[in-house]
Amino acid sequence: MRIIIFGPPGAGKGTQAKKVAEHLGIVHLSTGKMFRDAINEGTELGKLVKSIIDEGHLVPDQTVVDMVEETIANEDYSKGYILDGFPRTVEQAVAFDNLLERRGESVDVFISLHAPDHELIQRLLSRGEGRSDDTEEKIKTRLEVYKKETAPVMEYYQQAGMFRSVDGTGTVDQIFQRILSAIPKR
Ligand code: AP5
Ligand code: MG
Repeated sequence: MRIIIFGPPGAGKGTQAKKVAEHLGIVHLSTGKMFRDAINEGTELGKLVKSIIDEGHLVPDQTVVDMVEETIANEDYSKGYILDGFPRTVEQAVAFDNLLERRGESVDVFISLHAPDHELIQRLLSRGEGRSDDTEEKIKTRLEVYKKETAPVMEYYQQAGMFRSVDGTGTVDQIFQRILSAIPKR
């Protein structure tokens, strides 16, 4: 099972992807977390992306696509995975499709979580994990970047026919149940 969980900053992608991955016995791949780990470890990749992430902008498409390609080639990913934070531009979506096609694979479902901006902002401001991009100013930038560069990815998957829209408001468990209902049964 290959799932994409999509949504603006604070929509609950990470929270829900973790639960879905545990429930289905698949891997949770968060590109944002991979970058934050690289920054903390001080790797070349971390040095390259630090200022971009701190500002709330997007890492260049090719850097992200290469990282995802390398990661999903690992044996752990053969049973399936849930992608959180990728693809984030139409260019990434096209590159990912090409990559899957070369592997003879496809995406089973694209789950789009939505919640009003005021709720997203409230959640991010009270997250308390010390993320450098969780300040009022950087959250504003991230929401703008989402609307301009990331939201068009929804249309791409709507055309491809595996798009599911899920209400991202309510309790974590309510949302989780909605997501499970949106995942095709095998
Ligand atoms: P990324 O890590 O993906 O961050 P994001 O998209 O901004 O999203 P968040 O992680 O902030 O929110 P979330 O949707 O995961 O919500 P969460 O579950 O944590 O990306 C970070 C950066 O990395 C990007 O800005 C970019 O620079 C770079 N990057 C990553 N991928 C990239 C790509 N593909 N291309 C280019 N650049 C890339 O929930 C938020 C908070 O709300 C938590 O505290 C949570 O506990 C709480 N919460 C969750 N659900 C609920 C609920 N139902 N009710 C109340 N609170 C809730
Ligand atoms: Mg997240």
